[in-house]
Amino acid sequence: MSAPRAHWGSRIGFVLAAAGSAVGLGNLWKFPYIAWNNQGGSFLIVYFLAVTFLGLPVMIAEISVGRRAQLSAAHAYAALGGRAWGVLGWVGVLAAGVIQSYYLVIAGWSLHSLGECLGWSVGGYVSPVDGAFSAFLANGPLQLAFTAAFSFLTSAVLFRGVSGGIELLNRWAMPLLFALLIYLVGTALTLDGALAGVAALWTPQIQTFRPAALLEASGQAFFSLSLGLGAMVTYGSYLKREDSIPRAALAVVILDTVVAVLAATLMFILLYAIPGLAERVSGSTVGMLFVTLPELFYTKIPGGIVLAPAFFALVAIAAVTSTISLGEVLIAAVTDTWGIRRDYATVATGVAVFAGSALAALSLGAVPALSEVAVFAGKAGVLSTLDHLASNYLLPLGGIGTSIFVGWFWAAKDSRIQLALPSPLFLIWLWSVRVVAPAAIFALLIAVALGKDFS
Ligand code: TRP
Repeated sequence: MSAPRAHWGSRIGFVLAAAGSAVGLGNLWKFPYIAWNNQGGSFLIVYFLAVTFLGLPVMIAEISVGRRAQLSAAHAYAALGGRAWGVLGWVGVLAAGVIQSYYLVIAGWSLHSLGECLGWSVGGYVSPVDGAFSAFLANGPLQLAFTAAFSFLTSAVLFRGVSGGIELLNRWAMPLLFALLIYLVGTALTLDGALAGVAALWTPQIQTFRPAALLEASGQAFFSLSLGLGAMVTYGSYLKREDSIPRAALAVVILDTVVAVLAATLMFILLYAIPGLAERVSGSTVGMLFVTLPELFYTKIPGGIVLAPAFFALVAIAAVTSTISLGEVLIAAVTDTWGIRRDYATVATGVAVFAGSALAALSLGAVPALSEVAVFAGKAGVLSTLDHLASNYLLPLGGIGTSIFVGWFWAAKDSRIQLALPSPLFLIWLWSVRVVAPAAIFALLIAVALGKDFS
C-alpha cells in the first residue's frame, strides 16, 4: 500500500513551488539573450502575447489535468483519457529526464562561480586568464564534481518530500530571489548610461520586429513556464480541491515574467552602461553570465564584493527550484507506477539521471567522443543534443498533445466546473487551448522541420 497522496501545506505553497519551477536559468540566461538578439523593444510585446495566449491557457490546462486526476503526469492522462493518451504522459517523463540531465550541468556552473566569487571577495579580484572558462568546461573531473554536487543538492530537497522539502525551500528561496534581483537592478540603475539600456528594452520598435520572434517567444514561454512535460500536471496533483486554478496559474505566469523582464533589464543596463561590453558578449550569454558579470561586479559596480557572490547564489537558487520540479516528475512517475517509497524513488531516479548528466558534463571538451556526438546538424556534443531534442521536439509535442487533449477530448463540462471561471473568460481559455495553442505550436514544429532552432 502506498501512502495517501501528499498535498501542499498552503495555497501559497503551490504558487511558490510552481513559480520556483518556472523561474530558472531560462529566465536569467535565455530570456535576456533572446531579447537582446531581437533588439529589445518589440520582443517584450511579442513575449507578453505568447505568455498570455499560449502560456497561461496551457498552464491552466496542465494544472487542471493534475488536480482532477490526483496523479502525476505519467498516469494523469491515461486516467482521464484512456490508455492511448497515457503515451503523452510518458513522453513528458522522458523529456523531464532529458532536460534534467543537462540542466544539472549548467546549474553546477553556478556553484563553481559562487565559489570563485567568494574567493575573490575575500582575497581580492584576480582577472582570470583568457580561456579560463573554456578550460573549466573541458575539465572532466571538475565538471563531474559540480554536476554531482548539484544533483546531490536537488535530491536532498526532494528527499524531504512535497511540503517538507519542495514547499519549504521555495518559501524562503523565492522571496529571497526577488529581493536580490530587485536590489541588483536598483544598483545597476545608478550606473551612468543605465537609462539608455532601460529605454532600449522598453521602447517598442516596430522596424526591428521579425516574424520569427513570434515563434521564438512561444518556444521561450513554454520552456520558461515549465510547460510541455507535465511538471505542472505533477505539481497540480498535489493541489487541494478548493484552490482556484486560474488564479494560481495567473500568479505563476506573472511572477515568472516579472523575473525574466527584471533579468533582461539588468543585462540591458549593463550592456549599455559598460563601453565595449556589447561587442564582447555578442553571441554568447554563457560568457555574459559566467565570465563577464564577475569582472563587472568587481571592477565597475559599487558593492560588487557582496553582490557578485549574491548574484551566483541567486542563480543557484533559481536553478535548484527548477531542478526539483524536473526531479519530482520522475519521482512521482516511479511512485505512482510501482507504489514504492518516495525516498527509494528519489535515490533511484537521482542515480539514473546522474548517468545522463555525466555524459553531458563530459561533452564540453573533456571526452572527445562525447563532445563530437552529432545527431542534429550544427549541434555537437551530448549537452547541446539533449537541449535541442527537448526544446525543439519533446516540449512542443507535449504542449500540442496537452492542449488537444484538454481542449477537445477531456469533457469541456468537467473543466468548466473545475475552473469555475465566468463564462466569457472560460470561453477565451477554451478556445485558446483548442485553437491558438495548437496552431502556434504547430507553426513552431514546422519551423523546426524547416531548420529553425529554439534551443
Ligand atoms: N522553467 C525552467 C527555467 O526557466 C526550466 C524547467 C523546469 C522546465 N521545469 C521544467 C522546463 C519543465 C520545461 C518543463 O529554467
